[in-house]
Amino acid sequence: MTTRILITGKNGQLGFELAQAFLTTSNLSTLEVVALDRSELDLTRPDQIRSVVGALKPNLIINAAAYTAVDAAESDAVLAMQVNGIAPGIFAEEANRCGAAIIHFSTDYVFAGDGAVPYTEMDAVAPDNVYGKTKLAGELAVSVIAKRYLILRAAWLYSNRRHNFLRTMLRLARERDSLNVVNDQLGSPTWVRDIANATRQLLNISKDAIELNVPSGIYHVSATGVTSWHGFAAAIMAGTTDEHRRINGVGIITTAQYNAPAKRPAYSVLSNEKLATAGVAMRDWQSQLRDCLAERATMNESAGLEPLATPHATFALPQAAIQLFVPTFEIDECLAEIRECLEKGWTGLGYKTVAFEDAWKTYAQLPHAHFLNSATVGLHLAVEVLKRKYGWSDGDEIITTPLTFVSDSHTILYAKMHPVFADVDDALCLDPIDVAKKITAKTRAVMFVGMGGNAGQYQAVLALCRARGLAMILDAAHMAGTKIVAPDGQLRQAGFDADVTVFSYQAVKNLPTADAGMICFHDAADDELARKLTWLGINKDTYARTAAQGNYKWKYDVEYVGYKYHGNSIMAAIALVQLKYLDGDNQRRREIAAHYRAGFVAHSAIRTIPLAQDCESATHLFQIRVDNRDQVMETLNKDNIFPGVHYRDNTEYAMFAYGHGTCPNAHRASDEIISLPLHLRLSDSDIDRVVSAVVRVVVNTVGL
Ligand SMILES: Cc1ncc(COP(=O)(O)O)c(C=O)c1O
Repeated sequence: MTTRILITGKNGQLGFELAQAFLTTSNLSTLEVVALDRSELDLTRPDQIRSVVGALKPNLIINAAAYTAVDAAESDAVLAMQVNGIAPGIFAEEANRCGAAIIHFSTDYVFAGDGAVPYTEMDAVAPDNVYGKTKLAGELAVSVIAKRYLILRAAWLYSNRRHNFLRTMLRLARERDSLNVVNDQLGSPTWVRDIANATRQLLNISKDAIELNVPSGIYHVSATGVTSWHGFAAAIMAGTTDEHRRINGVGIITTAQYNAPAKRPAYSVLSNEKLATAGVAMRDWQSQLRDCLAERATMNESAGLEPLATPHATFALPQAAIQLFVPTFEIDECLAEIRECLEKGWTGLGYKTVAFEDAWKTYAQLPHAHFLNSATVGLHLAVEVLKRKYGWSDGDEIITTPLTFVSDSHTILYAKMHPVFADVDDALCLDPIDVAKKITAKTRAVMFVGMGGNAGQYQAVLALCRARGLAMILDAAHMAGTKIVAPDGQLRQAGFDADVTVFSYQAVKNLPTADAGMICFHDAADDELARKLTWLGINKDTYARTAAQGNYKWKYDVEYVGYKYHGNSIMAAIALVQLKYLDGDNQRRREIAAHYRAGFVAHSAIRTIPLAQDCESATHLFQIRVDNRDQVMETLNKDNIFPGVHYRDNTEYAMFAYGHGTCPNAHRASDEIISLPLHLRLSDSDIDRVVSAVVRVVVNTVGL
C-alpha cells in the first residue's frame, strides 16, 4: 500500500516548504508526495483539477496555491476568484470523490483588521479587499463541500526561499540608499517552516491512510507575539550581516503614505489558542526569525530561487482529458432566466418559448419559427406537414445522405415515406450530381444536412430541387449561426430559401440547451399546421387560452392526430441566453478550426474538409480524414484525447442495408473521418496538443 499527498503551489514559499517537509521528513517509504506548480496544474481549469486529482487519487490534498498579488487582485478579480475562490471548492469535491482529506491555506485578510485583540476562529469575517473576499470564498467552498478538511489561516509568511518580505528587505538593503516600512500594521511574522511543522503535527500518516488528528474546521496557525512590518524589517536587518548592504537602518512610513491600491488590515494578529488546545504549540516570531536567519547563513546566494528537488517525483502526471464536446453555458444568466420561469410558475409551452421564437426569428431573419423539444421531432414534422400539404403518398421517396445522424432517415420513415440515399461530395454534404441520379418518379423532397455547419453544395442541390419540383428540407442541426451569401449579396442565416429548416439546440450543439429544436417553415400555413400538430392537434395552446379573456378559454378543438413535440420554457430560457453568445462562440469555433488547419497543412496524410465558398460556417465540427482512422482514434484515446466520428455510413446499419453500395464516397469517408475536439473550453495549447498527437500518430504510421 502507499499513501499519497498532492501538494499544489510548489513554487510558492509555502507549497515549497510543505513539499520539502513531507519529502524529507517522511520516514515512510510508502508515502508518495506529488508537488505541482502552475504549469502542471492550472487552477483556473476545473477540468484539469478534476482529471489530475482523479488520476492521482491522493489520500490528502494540500492546497497551498493561491493568487497572492493583493494589489493586482483589485483589478483582476475574476482570475483571483478562479484561483482562490472556485478552485478550492473543486479540490474539495474531488477530495470527497476519492475519499481524501483536504488542507486548504487561508489568510488573516478574511478579517476587517480593525480589531485590537487577536482574532479567533469564531470572530466575524469581513474582508476589505478583493484578495480577502476571494480567499473567504475559498474557505466557504471548502468548509461547505469537503467531508474532512482543515482550513489553516496563516499571516505574514516568510522564508529563505521564493518571494517574500524577508528576501525583499534584504535585497532592497543592497539596492537602495534608504528604506521606509509601514509601522501602523500589526501582525505576527511566521516562518513557513513552522507552518509546515504544525501541519505535519495535525496529521497521522500511516502506510495506508492519512488521518486528521483534529476535528475538521478552521485553525489559526501563526507565530505568537506581535510586531509591525517596520519592527519585522528592523529585526531582519539586526539579525543579518551583509558586506554589500548600503543601509542598515529602516525608516518609518504610514500605510496612508505608502498608498497601495488594496486596503490592508491594520491588525492581523491571529490567536493560536484553538491550535494549542489541539496540542500544537506555535513559537514566538523572534525565535522563528532567529532560526530562519541561521538557516540563511548556511545557504548560498542563489539557493532561494532553486527549484524544489523532488526525489519522489516518479508519478507520471496524466494530461488532462480533452473531450470532443463540452458545452459552455452562461450559468448565472441561464439561472436568472430559469428563475423567472419558476417564480412565475410557468415552465411549459408559451411564455419563454414565445420569447425565444421571436428572438430566433429576429436573429435568423426567418419568417416563422416554432420551438420544439428536439430537431428530430422537427424533421418528422417537416416531412409530415409537407406530405399533407402536397398530398404525398406513403412509400414516396425523400433523398437524403447516408452520412448523418440516424434522425434523418428515421423521421422519413415515421411519415411512412422511403429514404433514398444519395452520395456525398468532398464537403461530406449531398452531391448534386448523385442526387440528380437518384431522383425517380416517386421522389418528393431532398433532406439536405449541412455537415458540421458547412453548406457544401446546398445551393446547387436547392436549384436542382426547384428545377425538378422537389421540396427542400434543410437539416440545419449543425448550422445555428451558419451564414450563406443570399442573392442580394447579404450574409444570411442558412435556411432562408428552403421550404423548411430545422435547427437543433441539443446539449452539445452550437446553441446548447439540454434538448430542444426549432422548425422554421417558409410558408405561414405550414407553420400554423405545425403548431397544431406539436400539441396533439389542439388548436389553441395553453398560453393563448390563458391570455384570452372570458369563460370559454378552456374550450378547444382537436382537428388532427397530433404529437407532443413542442418545447418548454426552461429550455427556451437557456436558449434565450445562449443565443446572445452564438455569434461570438461561433467566431471562436472558426478560430479553433483555423488553428487546426494551420497545424495540418504540411501533412498530406491528414486531409481536412473543404469549406463551401460563400459560407461562413458555424463550425460545429472540425473533421479530418486519415487512412488509419481506428488506429489514430485509439492512440489519441491513450493520450487522453477523445475525438468522435460523424458519422458512420447509415447503410452499414441493418435497417438501411438496402442502400449499401449505392454511396461509395460516403462509405469511404465513413472509414476515414474523425471529428476533433471542438468546444469553447479548449485552450490554444489544448489544440496544439491535439494537433501534435494526430501528426505524431499519422506520421509514425503512414510516414508522410
Ligand atoms: C445532422 C443531425 N440531424 C439531426 C439531429 C437530431 O437533433 P436532436 O438531438 O435535437 O433531435 C442531429 C443530432 O445530433 C444531427 O447531428
